[in-house]
Amino acid sequence: MKESLDPDYTGEGMYRENIIDHYKNPHNRGAIKNADIKHTENNPLCGDVVTVSLKLSAGRAEDIKFQGHGCAISQAAASMLTDEIKGKTLEEIKKTSREDIVNMLGIEIGPVRTKCAVLGLVAVKEGIKEFENK
Ligand code: FES
Repeated sequence: MKESLDPDYTGEGMYRENIIDHYKNPHNRGAIKNADIKHTENNPLCGDVVTVSLKLSAGRAEDIKFQGHGCAISQAAASMLTDEIKGKTLEEIKKTSREDIVNMLGIEIGPVRTKCAVLGLVAVKEGIKEFENK
């Protein structure tokens, strides 16, 4: 079956509502002033963008926010991700995988939608890399 390229695609069934809810009412939206980690990632296939900012305290993500624009999957996944990793250590956050994001979304996604789903996660991981290489 051909994968849907519809940017408004949000899957089927009961998870769809949750994804649309996060898309319309994103959690942790915004930017943190004086963030310790800040990174912008874009999806070259569509030009959509997610910027994450993190404030650290004792090695943990005390606060995390994101901004950007994109399809429902990318924005909902970023919203869910910020909820998930708030309070975690950088080591714990680095272990977050594509599968974790798919589980949060609760829908099966193919390679095209995977790029959307992990946009926020890639931004977080790249931001951590930059922070650790400083
Ligand atoms: Fe651009 Fe999903 S279509 S991130």
